[in-house]
Amino acid sequence: MIGDWLDIGHVDQITPGTARTLPVVGSDEIAVFRTLKNEFYALVNKCPHKQGPLSQGIVHGNVVTCPLHNWNISLKTGEALGEDNGCVPTVPMKVDAGRMYLLRSAVVGRRAA
Ligand code: FES
Repeated sequence: MIGDWLDIGHVDQITPGTARTLPVVGSDEIAVFRTLKNEFYALVNKCPHKQGPLSQGIVHGNVVTCPLHNWNISLKTGEALGEDNGCVPTVPMKVDAGRMYLLRSAVVGRRAA
């Protein structure tokens, strides 16, 4: 049931093609992305290159381009695309009846690097 999921708000809080951040006490900040096709993804808000804020990047398709040095990061897998190497942790999420949920166990207890 939804007890395993953390309600993080209504989908309308995120404009399509952008992201919002979710501060988690004692943990890494989470970036929640909404694509132009209304798909939702949650990643730790640190680029695998030099920890740029992915939430401020440009979303295109299922990819975000980091605002610092333009690496392209897959929103599905967290992996750097093309010739770049690196991976940022993803957080399982779902949308139900217009509300967004993160998998609680993937958020609570996550420690900052
Ligand atoms: S910090 Fe993201 S591309 Fe360099």
